[in-house]
Amino acid sequence: MNTVVVGAQWGDEGKAKITDILAEKADVIIRYQGGCNAGHTVVANNITYKFHLIPSGILYKNKICVIGPGTVIMPEYFEKEHQELLNQGVDFSGLRISPLASITMPYHTDIDGFSEDNAQKGKIGTTKKGIGPTYTDKIARIGLKVQDLFDIETLNEKLDIILPLKNKQLQEVYGLKPYTKEQILNYCHKYSEILAPYVWFDWQTFFEEIDGSVLFEGAQGVMLDVDYGTYPFVTSSNPIAGGACTGSGLGPKMIDEVIGVAKAYVTRVGEGPFVTELNDETGMKIQSIGHEFGVTTGRPRRCGWFDAVTMRYAVLVGGLTSVALTKLDVFDTFDNIKICYAYEDTRDGAIYKNYPTNVFIHKYLKPLYETFEGWRQDITSIRTYEDLPENCKKYISRVEELIGAPVSIISVGPDREQTIFKVS
Ligand code: GDP
Ligand code: IMO
Ligand code: MG
Repeated sequence: MNTVVVGAQWGDEGKAKITDILAEKADVIIRYQGGCNAGHTVVANNITYKFHLIPSGILYKNKICVIGPGTVIMPEYFEKEHQELLNQGVDFSGLRISPLASITMPYHTDIDGFSEDNAQKGKIGTTKKGIGPTYTDKIARIGLKVQDLFDIETLNEKLDIILPLKNKQLQEVYGLKPYTKEQILNYCHKYSEILAPYVWFDWQTFFEEIDGSVLFEGAQGVMLDVDYGTYPFVTSSNPIAGGACTGSGLGPKMIDEVIGVAKAYVTRVGEGPFVTELNDETGMKIQSIGHEFGVTTGRPRRCGWFDAVTMRYAVLVGGLTSVALTKLDVFDTFDNIKICYAYEDTRDGAIYKNYPTNVFIHKYLKPLYETFEGWRQDITSIRTYEDLPENCKKYISRVEELIGAPVSIISVGPDREQTIFKVS
């Protein structure tokens, strides 16, 4: 069974926890997009591991864990993450890095940081990890790939074209310092040595003979997808299941199921519309009980009620076959819980059951809610669906009805063990 794990909201849904659990039965785990903008947490045997670029399947032995062609790699951040995980005793013998993955160069991070710090209007609230500028250069065909670091002739040839362009941009558009070719060559040389043990030059032979099960690990989420998310308040890649093919090098026939991971509520980091956002005590309560602070940037996450309008959309464009519903335990002390089933346009009273893709009108939208009674019970030790409180099951059933997809996994705590598999 080959499975894609997709974030179904605005990221941080608990994808890493679900990936880690499913990785136990997989042979190959491929991270297919994004870069170190991601912050993925796995809690196993009372130890918390934080991943950014390294696939969340790495905790198991004898698995191939691939940083795929669709990802972007900031070498110094890779070095840091790698070292931190080594210090925690993680075994990297299964790690492979695609030679086709793109490299985030120092000027990409400079540009991302400068753009964010100086944006008057149109601030995105990026992670400042150079993600947008790296993908921009990839699409503009002036990017560097991992393989380029290992061929000095190619690297020289490419840099002679790329560097004058980037330096002109750095100086004339942003007023930033240019780079000498020597600086960039030194940078490439230094990091080629760090990446070298893992670069997967013989991936084609492996793919030709692949017979085990593959787990595709997404970062971010459908609503941050560059084509389908709340554009322009999105990341610069395709987290949706379609991105798993382009980002891994394996075709759509390889995919059997797509599990969308969604919290029982919604969070968002950075700028952009968020119709069910709660700027009140309830929002603060969710943030505090759910520990909603970013893994990568430490920023507080904006919180709101579960939004079935965006989820239905995520089921559609994300290609979801089922949903893993996480963080239900965060509601254990709540008297009432809400689900947004539609939006109302405050200008003319129009009702939207389908997600309006022009996000600039979202400021006029008001969420319409159904209210559910809470279960007022600690569910963190429950391990079967049958044992969940009735009010909790009612909530889950209504989520399934409203989003048009079954819930297959329920998460009641951060630990691997705190997971319920629901057979529909
Ligand atoms: P990801 O980016 O989608 O992998 O998610 P993050 O790791 O950024 O954020 C999810 C956070 O919620 C992490 O701290 C997880 O350990 C935690 N978490 C995951 N599932 C659950 C759950 O069911 N309940 C609770 N309380 N925490 C969870
Ligand atoms: P995981 O994989 C939550 C958000 C940023 C910003 C926008 C663009 O942990 O779910 P970028 O740096 O990608 O150019 O920023 O996307 N963002 C995330 N939000 N979780 C993430 O990753 C995110 N990765 C990027 O906050 O709004
Ligand atoms: Mg995260």
